[in-house]
Amino acid sequence: MLKILINPDPILRQKAKPVTNFDDKKLQKLIPEMIETMQKSDGVGLAAPQIGESIRLAVVTYRKKTIVLINPEIIKRSLLKEWGEEGCLSVPTIYGDVKRHKKITVNYIDAQGKKQCLQAFGMLARIIQHEVDHLDGILFIDKAKKLFTLTPHESND
Ligand code: NI
Repeated sequence: MLKILINPDPILRQKAKPVTNFDDKKLQKLIPEMIETMQKSDGVGLAAPQIGESIRLAVVTYRKKTIVLINPEIIKRSLLKEWGEEGCLSVPTIYGDVKRHKKITVNYIDAQGKKQCLQAFGMLARIIQHEVDHLDGILFIDKAKKLFTLTPHESND
């Protein structure tokens, strides 16, 4: 499991660099490690800057499917936006409502180095917008309407 950087780590605020070599050994090792880290942390998305790699890579999970997004680019955004609650593994215990485009089209490269185009709605569109923001050094707390803290119950069982 990889260590997740916590706000205000400066790496979280950098604009991440595009991936150029898709079969780079380090990248191919990093992808399953990021998926494992996301799953063990009960997250629905994880961007590479959150584990200290300032590259344009994110993993997302939705309806038990995992999507690996390399160099994601949102090429279409619906005019319609909606508010929804968000949290972030790098901003623990803090939640807030963020307005996001309801529908997006995203171009990306998958883990096999293939170009993909995905239309996403609702929750999946929200997760992808949150992760692409990470690649630009933006955190949901920058956009949230009001933030609130939820402290996890102190229980280890
Ligand atoms: Ni996040």
